[in-house]
Amino acid sequence: MARALPAEAQGRIRTLRLADGVVTLIVDAAGLERGAAGKLQAALEQAVGAVPDVSEVRVALMADRVERQIIVVGSGKGGVGKSTLTANLAVALSRLGLKVGVVDADIYGPSQPTLLHAEGTKPTATGQQLNPVDCAWGLKMLSMGQLIEPGKAIAWRGPMVGNALAQMMDAAWGDTEVLLVDLPPGTGDVQLTMLQKFRPSAAVIVSTPQDLALIDATRALDLFRTVGVPVAGMVENMAGYVCPHCGEISDPFGRGGAEATAAKLDLPFLGRVPLAMEIRVASDAGQPPAATDGPQGDAFRAVALRLAEWMRG
Ligand SMILES: Nc1ncnc2c1ncn2[C@@H]1O[C@H](COP(=O)(O)OP(=O)(O)OP(=O)(O)O)[C@@H](O)[C@H]1O
Ligand SMILES: [Mg+2]
Repeated sequence: MARALPAEAQGRIRTLRLADGVVTLIVDAAGLERGAAGKLQAALEQAVGAVPDVSEVRVALMADRVERQIIVVGSGKGGVGKSTLTANLAVALSRLGLKVGVVDADIYGPSQPTLLHAEGTKPTATGQQLNPVDCAWGLKMLSMGQLIEPGKAIAWRGPMVGNALAQMMDAAWGDTEVLLVDLPPGTGDVQLTMLQKFRPSAAVIVSTPQDLALIDATRALDLFRTVGVPVAGMVENMAGYVCPHCGEISDPFGRGGAEATAAKLDLPFLGRVPLAMEIRVASDAGQPPAATDGPQGDAFRAVALRLAEWMRG
């Protein structure tokens, strides 16, 4: 096996394991540019994959600390579209050329495996470290739903939740530049642990235009401000209902409330996503609208662009 390794991998192989035809390589990529690291990975996959009896090659590149931004997506109220926004932001940011990972931190209702078309996937582990699942659109993902038995989440206690969060956050994210974290609704334990232990670089707050949802959003803002996590801005979701028959736009939950609230709270407004049947249908089918061109995708892309600008500072 060692003879199959390409010359540029010399001195960089930390671990080489073969089990059931699957070769796992942990490669030290410190000091390599992203392009060079990618080439090294491809060369290893090709060379080792050509060895008889090897059916699969998994290469994990470990670099020096990668500058990674952790962005949490939160809301005070449930069901306002955090998970939908997270998945679509991930796809849109990936289409902008960023390396994006998604952490689904909702223990009670994990949604990212469905939204990102990765239902039934299980992450592998290298030693104690989890390897995120590769999804479509160049994304990596880990979900609470992949770590627990369905239906058992309710019995979880605080320390177990903290543990599972740590496992996901400390997984082998490799050269992931942006880690989007889909938070459960509200301002409970998971959120606090996440904010205090993993110090996200920013939070995005989702709200519907309704007054009550906005009051809850303000509560989420208080939490982020209290723990010192900067808020990148507010997104208004489910604003303006697009009639699937005639395309006419009505405003069942009002419109513009989140933008006005953002202005009042001195927060950037990141954009507005309409309430559209297509968004729910596509989301349920694991086809994030941001992956395709069209008005719904555009709405998410516009938010992603503003967020990317915010990240650049
Ligand atoms: N803009 C939209 N138009 C139509 N349906 C939407 C839109 N945004 C979200 N939905 C739908 O609303 C429901 C709730 O969305 P989602 O699960 O993303 O909310 P959430 O804030 O993550 O909920 P929870 O608080 O339970 O985690 C889903 O069925 C989703 O498909
Ligand atoms: Mg959710």
